[in-house]
Amino acid sequence: MKDVVVLPGPSSLDLGNFIAARLKSVSVPIDLKIFSDGESKIRIDSNLSNKKCIVVQSTYPPVDSHLLQALMIVSGCYEAGASEVITVLPYMGYARQDRKFLDGEFVTISLIARLLECINVRNLITVNIHSIKALSYFNLKIFNISSIRSLANYAKTQFDLVDPIVVSPDAGGISRAKEFSEIMNSNFFALNKIRDRISGSVVMDENLEIDIKDHDIIIIDDMISSGETILKALDVLKKNQSRKIYAMCVHALSDENSLNRLKAAGLTDLVSTNSVPRPCSKVDLSADITNALSSIL
Ligand code: R5P
Repeated sequence: MKDVVVLPGPSSLDLGNFIAARLKSVSVPIDLKIFSDGESKIRIDSNLSNKKCIVVQSTYPPVDSHLLQALMIVSGCYEAGASEVITVLPYMGYARQDRKFLDGEFVTISLIARLLECINVRNLITVNIHSIKALSYFNLKIFNISSIRSLANYAKTQFDLVDPIVVSPDAGGISRAKEFSEIMNSNFFALNKIRDRISGSVVMDENLEIDIKDHDIIIIDDMISSGETILKALDVLKKNQSRKIYAMCVHALSDENSLNRLKAAGLTDLVSTNSVPRPCSKVDLSADITNALSSIL
């Protein structure tokens, strides 16, 4: 596509380049400097006059830096003459702050939505945003694509499974587990998880509604952050005598060491998408994102 260019942001270099290759578009480099005080400085040394720019920048940790860099890149594209900037934020940070859980809290995702609108973002693509409620704060066109089919296809072809059962670690993820299990042609259920809103700690009911003895398990979650949810789920599933336990998530936010610790706690494998570049990010999102882009371009 001649007047379409892709700008892989510093947080999504590989994914951005994969998308550019699929679109057969030029990939425009972005120069990033981080100053000693932590400030980011972006430089785009290309003429973007009348170009449709696709900015790809996932806002995984450090969320604030990656988010501000995304805002800088989008603004920079318009300043360099872009006719339109389509923004791809594969992981949408702050989507968990979609309601006031405690008095005095703020709905930060609504502020993020206003910031994006304010810099003229009209089309935004994200992947499995944490909640549907978070979507309701955006007045721009937001495409919330699902990577569940891609994750389930990976499990089907790469895991060696015996009588698998798909497990959501909480009630909020039940529709994800259902979608995943339909592709796997297997049973599914949700664990009963309660998170303390002040300490953040997680408690899970050990009594299950389904007998999982001698079944392989695939835990599917939208994200792994502190890892506590997966650890508690592992504990409950082991106590209920499952066979192998796999974990899959869309966004592997934890750092590499924490993800390795999770694996060491008893997971047979842990696989995520490449919305966050980690060694476990084996499911490539570029085809799903390119499909969504085709309906906008
Ligand atoms: C919760 O609603 C989410 O779907 C995840 O289960 C949760 O955010 C994972 O966080 P952590 O790894 O910190 O337990």
